[in-house]
Amino acid sequence: MRFKHSRVASSAVALLHLSLLAGCHREHDQSVLHPASSAASEIAWLSWFLMILCTVIFIVVMGLTMVAVFWRVPTPKSEESRTRGSADMSPGLSPLGDRFILWGGAIIPGILLVLILLVSLRTQVALHIPETALTIEVIGHQWWWEVHYRDQEIEIANELYIPVGEPVRLKLKAADVIHSFWVPNLQGKTDMIPGVTNEMWISAYRPGVFRGQCAEYCGVQHALMALVVVAVPREEFDQWLETMQQPTPEPETDLQRRGKEVFQEASCNNCHAVAGTKAKAELAPDLTHLASRRTIGAGILPNNRGNLAGWISNPQTLKPGNRMPRTHLEPHDLHALISYLETLK
Ligand code: CUA
Repeated sequence: MRFKHSRVASSAVALLHLSLLAGCHREHDQSVLHPASSAASEIAWLSWFLMILCTVIFIVVMGLTMVAVFWRVPTPKSEESRTRGSADMSPGLSPLGDRFILWGGAIIPGILLVLILLVSLRTQVALHIPETALTIEVIGHQWWWEVHYRDQEIEIANELYIPVGEPVRLKLKAADVIHSFWVPNLQGKTDMIPGVTNEMWISAYRPGVFRGQCAEYCGVQHALMALVVVAVPREEFDQWLETMQQPTPEPETDLQRRGKEVFQEASCNNCHAVAGTKAKAELAPDLTHLASRRTIGAGILPNNRGNLAGWISNPQTLKPGNRMPRTHLEPHDLHALISYLETLK
């Protein structure tokens, strides 16, 4: 018995720790409970409202259940009183019981359900797409995100830059199976369905890096299909746009030039594109601005030399099932290739 109690206690402590951990701020925040936009604030407010209301209802119902289980109704002592009792009382419930069923089973639940409906509708109205100046197209792939700023002729992957304080329209598509775009700090989920363009919007009222996650099971690496939304002040956003629109720099050193050759010899250009070069394939993430990305493999590893080398050499170990095959390269060629990739800013 004591063992059982200690297990219950340790489970409760573990749950408490989990909920406390969920409240921790991290560099790449991903939490419904830390809203960074008006839409996410509405959703967080609705979540808290439902959570508190349902907790109160649960406690009241459990309390009444305990009363029903443990409250002993006194039984009539004599045969006479029993006979009288059954004759006096209707075969069903007492008037008090009838009233209780009417209020507890119909009127109060009815009022609560209408209240929940009205509060949910209020949230839904607050989430309608406002006027937007910027549109970003995001296409879900197994298991990465293709990102286009069509008007600005910019293509990147697994990252979205947005200006703080401005609503941004998203056009969401899917290239293969159903995915779902979800950046909890900024907005609710929206599915990405092949053959359909769904629209939603995001905004951020403070700068930050907000992590997003595919929210619809889409295959073996669904859990490793992440992205980040980087919200920066308007000025910084304009600078970013300008940097992204610059032509791809030519390799400057012999090592970088050799790397560019390796890129073609190793058939990287069969799947990837680099703007301004012969590499124009669209099967895999566009690498024009690879070096400016924070992560590789759709959010699974920090983007640095060591991880890039590991990813190119054996991507199937890092993310089994992804579409990138192993690339067998001599160490000096790998070194050169990475030096070239590092110029793609
Ligand atoms: Cu894409 Cu889950």
